Amino acid sequence: MTTLIKSLNDIKKAINISKRDIGFVPTMGALHDGHISLIKACKQECKTTFVSIFVNPKQFSPGEDFDKYPRDFEADLKICKELNVDYIFSPDVSEIYPEKVSEEIVTPPTALTEMLCGLSRKDFFPGVATVVKKLLEIVTPDYAYFGEKDLQQLFVIRWLVKEYKIPTFIRACPIVREKNGLACSSRNRYLNEDKKKLASHIHKSLEMARRDVRSGIFTASKAALESLVYLSQFPDIKVEYLESRSKENLEKVTDGRTKGFYFLVAARVGNVRLIDNIEV
Ligand code: PAJ
Repeated sequence: MTTLIKSLNDIKKAINISKRDIGFVPTMGALHDGHISLIKACKQECKTTFVSIFVNPKQFSPGEDFDKYPRDFEADLKICKELNVDYIFSPDVSEIYPEKVSEEIVTPPTALTEMLCGLSRKDFFPGVATVVKKLLEIVTPDYAYFGEKDLQQLFVIRWLVKEYKIPTFIRACPIVREKNGLACSSRNRYLNEDKKKLASHIHKSLEMARRDVRSGIFTASKAALESLVYLSQFPDIKVEYLESRSKENLEKVTDGRTKGFYFLVAARVGNVRLIDNIEV
């Protein structure tokens, strides 16, 4: 049975009667196959599964798509019920950010945020770190599940639990893709079929880069440049960045290494901002 919880008081009660291990999948809803894979991994490993659905205003800057972010609560509820999620935590904004309490924003280190998505989305990682810290403190999970699609976010979450000594193990789950290779994302709902086809070239460009490095044709940075050139033939794809970054700490890859790093990309198709990455 799936129980819907809105208040902090009710979630405390639920946690008190829950069998551990408790697993937790934080989401902003508009659930898709990527989220479903996280929920399945959680169910497999844990006795009780909590999924949060909360579109976190703090991680959107003014002018970003907070108001337009896809919301489909009825469909999300159906998916969670089908997957036998035990608890959905879907608080109102005032429950997470009570106005009376002066807000402490968690600021991840600049080495993790002054690059990639952090350059164009100033409020994003502080907003994510702030809400995930609160959610982990509320749900007190033994395990929490995050997708590798949001790779920089995953690094920030790993920093967060270490910095605040939060006793939750972080599990990273592989990227789930649509048939044409496009990484599943709630924002894919904004794309029509033609745009989705176009967007699939983003993943193709990453595969190209990986192939060129593996076969020894190019270094990582040259392969990234070649992929940028590939994407530049599509005027409706506007690349924000396409870079190679180390597996250890997302530092720039400047040496000639042929493995142990990622290519990461952010690009707009029309006005839909998409991100993706591939491990080499
Ligand atoms: P959201 O975009 O809803 O994603 C929730 C989780 O699903 C994240 O861990 C994300 O990495 C994962 N995910 C999304 N698409 C995926 C895909 N194609 N394959 C595998 N996993 C995927 O990320 C957020 O919400 C928020 O920032 C949140 C962490 C909930 C904080 O508000």
